[in-house]
Amino acid sequence: MKIGTIEIENPLILAPTDWAFRTICARLGAGVTVTEMVSSRALIYGDKKTAKLLKKNEGSVCGAQIFGNDPAVMARGAQLALEISGCDFIDINMGCPMPKIANSGDGCGLMRTPELAAEIVSAVKNAVDVPVTIKCRLGWDKGNLNFLDFTKRMEDAGADMVTVHGRTRAMLYSGVADWDAIGKVKAQLHIPVIANGDITDGEAAVKCLKRTGADGIMVGRSTFGDPWIFQEILAAQRGESYTRPCLADRIAVAVEQFQLSEQDHGEHVACLEARKHFAWYLRGVSHSSYYKNQITSLNTMEDIYRVAKDVVRDLK
Ligand SMILES: Cc1cc2nc3c(=O)[nH]c(=O)nc-3n(C[C@H](O)[C@H](O)[C@H](O)COP(=O)(O)O)c2cc1C
Repeated sequence: MKIGTIEIENPLILAPTDWAFRTICARLGAGVTVTEMVSSRALIYGDKKTAKLLKKNEGSVCGAQIFGNDPAVMARGAQLALEISGCDFIDINMGCPMPKIANSGDGCGLMRTPELAAEIVSAVKNAVDVPVTIKCRLGWDKGNLNFLDFTKRMEDAGADMVTVHGRTRAMLYSGVADWDAIGKVKAQLHIPVIANGDITDGEAAVKCLKRTGADGIMVGRSTFGDPWIFQEILAAQRGESYTRPCLADRIAVAVEQFQLSEQDHGEHVACLEARKHFAWYLRGVSHSSYYKNQITSLNTMEDIYRVAKDVVRDLK
């Protein structure tokens, strides 16, 4: 598969996330990663915090994701995102359902203004010399399922790849992603189509690729605390099963993620992030509730190291 001119050997895409977790997942088999979305307007205002989110990771092809609804601002934002990050491609968010974003006409709000969305794609294409991709949903709600018309317009406007999350904006993250709808998008476009939504394990990944005919898949929530899911998917594609590393090795990877996060954002933010991610790393580990409680009050890297040591000592 190719994103514009970029050859993608391994079309397993990690959903937009922070640099620390992208670094870990790229090492463990994600072929493409994407930064968490940043506001094109905030980039133009020179917001330092926004710029930091765009740090490119090693080990994978990496896209910078931007959002906004003004073609000129998005075009300049895309140029700045590239200057700051050195990323390989620009991804435009047309799928975020959060009211603050979507109700202002950004993110999934763009699915209600397809002509404007197309203008944004062509403005960004004209402004940068890297591939430009978009990520969208099926539509605003079940009465407005315009994904076929919408994705065709994006292709015509110059998009180099579309990722479709098989839900509407109204569904947020509930219900079931409609992979058949994604298959219809794949059937009508010439550019690569990436399927997203509810890929929970290797078996689901293989099923989704078969059902949609998509060129690749994007995995979001199932990666949380489980960056090994990419190895599992790669094994499933070869018809093999996959056994995750032992708990001690998994916790070592978790600690490395939190150290990278500290390096990126400092101890305070790293600990707040670790409160979520550490608990995810313990999902399914028997007798871990005592430690999950401790994780909710992590304040220092020393706290992280202590809990990690105790977990490895006491649990399997
Ligand atoms: C906490 C969280 C943050 C997300 N942030 C973004 C984002 O910045 N950009 C984006 O395109 N999608 C974002 N998403 C949506 C995911 O990329 C993905 O479309 C969605 O989770 C469905 O895929 P899944 O079923 O594999 O999780 C986010 C999802 C979650 C749960």
